[in-house]
Amino acid sequence: MKQRPKILRSIHLQSSNKVIYLEIGSSQVKVMVNSKLVFNQPSCIAINPAQQSILAFGDKAYQLLGKRRHDLQVVFPIKNGAVANREHFQLLTEAISNHLHLEADWWKILSPQRCIIAMSDALTPAEKEQTIRQFSHLKLGKQSFFSSELAVAMQADRCHLESSTNYCLINMGGMITTVAIVQRGELTHAERIFVGGVHFTAAVQHLVRSIENCAISWHEAERVKKNIGFIEHANTHLTVINKKLSVTGKDIASQLGKTVIISAKQASRGFGSLVDDLVVGLQHFFNKVPPEQVTDCLQNGVFLTGGAMQLTGMREIFQHHLKAETVMSDQPELDVVMGLEKLATRDQ
Ligand SMILES: Nc1ncnc2c1ncn2[C@@H]1O[C@H](COP(=O)(O)OP(=O)(O)OP(=O)(O)O)[C@@H](O)[C@H]1O
Ligand SMILES: [Mg+2]
Repeated sequence: MKQRPKILRSIHLQSSNKVIYLEIGSSQVKVMVNSKLVFNQPSCIAINPAQQSILAFGDKAYQLLGKRRHDLQVVFPIKNGAVANREHFQLLTEAISNHLHLEADWWKILSPQRCIIAMSDALTPAEKEQTIRQFSHLKLGKQSFFSSELAVAMQADRCHLESSTNYCLINMGGMITTVAIVQRGELTHAERIFVGGVHFTAAVQHLVRSIENCAISWHEAERVKKNIGFIEHANTHLTVINKKLSVTGKDIASQLGKTVIISAKQASRGFGSLVDDLVVGLQHFFNKVPPEQVTDCLQNGVFLTGGAMQLTGMREIFQHHLKAETVMSDQPELDVVMGLEKLATRDQ
């Protein structure tokens, strides 16, 4: 095929409209550019605390988590879905922006770059204002903020403007679980429950320490959680229950290396109280919703998404407590960022 001269190709590229879709979660940052997922890495940075300079971000920073050095600290600037540390947030977003060349080019006046950012409707007004202010420092082009919950609703195909049916969506991420109700394409209720994947990982770490006197790293606890962690429920027979895993850590008494065999039951023993907290949060949420709306939601099936929803038995436990059918997303970690595109197109 005959190629266009280089100068013409470059003009064509420069005039094509770039649209960036961005979700910065408590655990993971997801970025899509022109409908392609280009970044999905931990939302952390490694810094030199004395100089407040950045050493690494994303996967590379996450690898350094747990390493003890006076000149190294790994931090997650987003807590409970909101910006917790402004300087660290700036370092993280600038590093990703530079890495992906996301900065808007000044000469593209005729076809400006757009950046669509997910923000949860369950945040407080002050948290929302702070988030918008933080992003305004970045040169990402024309910024628009869209509801993370409505983005999920678009993915679940539950945003029909003409339908008066109520739908419930539950997104369990790294630090929070958001519960939302959508009707006629709009949110009627949204709330955060402060239970997420990190709490289950911390429970595994705590259990191995107390049962085996063995301190394990965060990465090791994540591996245990994902491989043999489960939520027990009388009516479900999970094959994972009989599984065991060899885990390596440090003996608390001798401070030397130690390998122990952990059963799935042991690893998951601390999950019960987290599930109790989740159930209390759900009760608190539904308490504020009129009974007709709750009945309608539960009859229509609850949509479950978010990375932590993948924990074995999680779906069944929601199904049991809500007394409703559930629909599990097939891309639970990506629903928000992917739904953003559909939402932005709908609202154009
Ligand atoms: N297979 C799995 N089993 C259990 N948990 C998982 C699995 N895969 C990912 N997770 C958990 O999902 C969580 C991250 O989910 P997600 O990417 O939805 O969070 P986030 O959007 O960054 O956080 P938040 O919504 O709280 O701000 C982590 O805690 C991770 O351990
Ligand atoms: Mg999330």
